[in-house]
This record gives sequence, structure tokens and C-alpha cells, in this order.
Amino acid sequence: MLNQIEELASKAFGELNKVTNLEELEAWRVCYLGRKSTLVQALRSLIKLPLEERRVIGARANEIKNGLEAALAQKKESLGQGLTALSGCESLDVSLPGRRVSLGRLHPTTQTLDEICEIFKGMGFQIVEGPEVEWDYYNFEALNMPVGHPARDMFATLWMDTEPSTQFGAMLLRTHTSPVQIRAMEKMKPPIRIIAPGRVYRYEATDVTHEWMFHQVEGLAVDKNITLADLKGTLFEFARRLFGKERKCRFRCDYFPFVEPGGELSIDCIACKGIGCRVCGGSGWLEILGCGMVHPEVLRRVDIDPDVYSGFAFGMGVERIPILRYGVEDIRLFYGNDIRFLEQF
Ligand code: DAH
Repeated sequence: MLNQIEELASKAFGELNKVTNLEELEAWRVCYLGRKSTLVQALRSLIKLPLEERRVIGARANEIKNGLEAALAQKKESLGQGLTALSGCESLDVSLPGRRVSLGRLHPTTQTLDEICEIFKGMGFQIVEGPEVEWDYYNFEALNMPVGHPARDMFATLWMDTEPSTQFGAMLLRTHTSPVQIRAMEKMKPPIRIIAPGRVYRYEATDVTHEWMFHQVEGLAVDKNITLADLKGTLFEFARRLFGKERKCRFRCDYFPFVEPGGELSIDCIACKGIGCRVCGGSGWLEILGCGMVHPEVLRRVDIDPDVYSGFAFGMGVERIPILRYGVEDIRLFYGNDIRFLEQF
């Protein structure tokens, strides 16, 4: 009987080597370790043997059974992991090229924001952020636009409240990033040099040139002896770093209630180099931002003495920059989430 078991064991191990898939492995298990297998039957019939024989044969038979079970487990694991697991159920063409991993990319707005922030960081400005849901006080009042001020009409506003709900007035979606100036000056003492990137909202019917949500970057510098020359120097340098050394800059008067004097910065048109074309509306110039010297009234609001300190501020639209650079015809493409548009940047 011992011989029979030994023979069976070597046959079983030999067969196991030839097994190549899980189905064959199951057949092998039934054959050598199943209830009706020779080995298990032999173990059962041990009881009929005399005690001495039973002990010797029993020990060996159990050893072999454990060995086979361990080999079965090992084989099962290696089949489960390997490519052979696929044989019989699926075919595998190892000559097929792999699937391309498509990498995402940064949104053109994010890329532009990063570029702008890098330039100002290089000039010693610090990046701060403010809330998109704002109070009337920060969005208008503290920026020298009290209730009833006609300049509020420049900002078509999405109101959250119909009535003032706190001492800060009614809640709204900020129409520009300028309220971050107020929040920064409330928290910091001069010297202040900050830029504030972020989303802004307007109550607009959307069309090729209007969106109800877009981005701005605000800038503010407050210190002793800050002059209009600092404003011009900083912004001219910025425009050249962003749009190229060869750019010409034009600085003109403009009106914003929170600055005095207020100005507007333009660069010569990147499409026609100043000759006049469709992009610049024939003028040869592209307006890129509003700016000015912080109004004394605004400084007083945040307890900064305008007789000691002065400052400049500016604000620009972010989407406008890739629109001008790449000739994007419709601002709605930016947030339409059409991957064919976004992939181009
Ligand atoms: N907040 C203005 C707007 O949305 C832009 C602006 C103009 C910001 C002049 C400024 C500034 O800080 O000084 O149209």
C-alpha cells in the first residue's frame, strides 16, 4: 500500500506541473485530493490495517496529502496572477500597441493666472484671496460707492439678498476683486504689496464677449511716498513681461470711484502691431487694465492716514488675455467644457 501511495504522489506532482489554467487545476484537485480520490480513499481504509502498519502508512499518507495541498495552493496563486489566467477565457494579443494615457492639462485661465501671479511675485507682491460671496460694504460702500452712487451701475450685480441683512448691507456675488483690497488693508499694516486673483460675477446675458462668471486679478500697493510713477513703472514692466519686451504701453485717464486719479493701461495691438484691425477695433490699442492712486476716502475707511500713506491699485480681466493672444472668438468657450477647445492650450 505504501508503494501505491508513493507512486500516486509522484504522478500527482508530475501532472500538476502540466496544469496551465484554473479549470485544469480544479480537475487535478478532484482527481488527487477529492473525496473519491485514491489518496483519500486509502487514508479512509487505514482503519482496517493493523496498528503498526496504520501508524507508518498513515503518517506518510498524511505527509503526502499536506504536500499536495500546499502545491495546489501555490499553483492556484501563480495562475491567478499570471497571464496564463487569461488562457481559455480571453485571447491576448501581445503585439497590440498600448492604450495612450491621455494626460490632462491646466485650463487656459489657470495658466494665465499662474503667469500673472509669477510676474508680480517676482516684483515682491504677495498673493491673497477673498470670498466670492461678499457684502455690499466691501464690494461697493468701502470702495467709495455708497448706496445710490451712479457708478454702481457699472457693475451689473447678482444679489443674494433683496434687503440689507447685516451692518455690512446686503449679500451679493462680488462683481470685481477690488473688495479684497479692503479686506487686505483691514488686516495688514503698510507696507502692503498684494495681488488677489479670483472669480467675479456679473448679471449679464451671455454672448460672444460676455460671461456671467469670469476672473480678475487685483493689485494693491500701500506705503509712504508711493506715487503715480510707481504705478506706471510697475504696470509697464508687467505688460512687457507678459506680452513681450517690444510692446508699447499707453496710459490714459479713466474714472473709477475708488481711485483718484484713475487710469487705464493699453498695449499696442498684438494682432496688427498698432496699425488698426478687427481685434483692436481699428484703434491699434488694446486696453488691458484699470488702475489709479487709492482714493484718500478708501484709505480713511480702513484707518490708514492718507496724509502719511499713499497707494496704487489696479484690476484686470484674466480671460481677455488668452482671448487677445490666441484670437479666441467666443468667451463662452472657456467654460463650455468642450475638450476640443481646452486641449489646444
Ligand atoms: N474693479 C474694476 C472693474 O472691475 C477694475 C479696477 C479699476 C480695479 C481700477 C482697480 C482700479 O483696482 O484701481 O472694472
